[in-house]
Amino acid sequence: MRKAIIAGNWKMNNTAAQGVELVEALKPLVADAECDVVVCVPFTDIPAVSKALAGSNIRLGAQNVHFAEKGAYTGEISADMLKEYGVEYVIIGHSERRQYFGETDETVNKRMHAALAAGLIPIVCIGESLEERETGKTESVLDVQIREGLKGLDDVSKIVIAYEPVWAIGTGKTATAEQANETIGFIRKTLAEVFCPVCAEKVRIQYGGSMNAKNCKELMAMPEIDGGLIGGASLKSADFAAIVHYNK
Ligand code: 13P
Repeated sequence: MRKAIIAGNWKMNNTAAQGVELVEALKPLVADAECDVVVCVPFTDIPAVSKALAGSNIRLGAQNVHFAEKGAYTGEISADMLKEYGVEYVIIGHSERRQYFGETDETVNKRMHAALAAGLIPIVCIGESLEERETGKTESVLDVQIREGLKGLDDVSKIVIAYEPVWAIGTGKTATAEQANETIGFIRKTLAEVFCPVCAEKVRIQYGGSMNAKNCKELMAMPEIDGGLIGGASLKSADFAAIVHYNK
């Protein structure tokens, strides 16, 4: 039985003060959550939000991590820097990083290994573009992202995978629950082949892309979908809390 994990990806939203305000509002709303609850916040919000979350059931995540322990990598953040503030999760390879900042399966792979070595739980994002879906390439694209991006992983159940079809992100266009379930089923089948059937059954795979308070119930009812990575709807405490309580 896989425990559901609902994570907010704030992206480049909320100053530290605004972030604290948001989590203060969120804490009482999700205190009785049955699933794992995570907020992935901008780097500059981490110290203040970490303090605000102390003693709560909300776990802290970052939105990226560099693969080197330290050194001449201007503008980057290391795993140790995150760990010092109690960060436990880190998003890696979000499609916006791949699209706008030159992230590749190779850099995703390096960042994932660095995160794991430091004891962080990577949330590795994979997903196809609209053109790839429309030309029937979804499965081959995901297959490459899995084989290359997760290369060298001894146990795939140590990570969380987020399936985020690029065409569903921030567009209000959600994959249907059936589409998401079918594609995540394909991802799990591939993981069983590449890694092992037992760890493929254990790994948690989230859906991400315009998931909201209205459609979360139907998506989460699908057997393959173990959680959500939420963008826009994670910026409002009531909306995010409603998703956390998808089964109520
Ligand atoms: P939206 O929920 O805003 O579509 O964003 C999804 C996402 O990219 C989460 O990482």
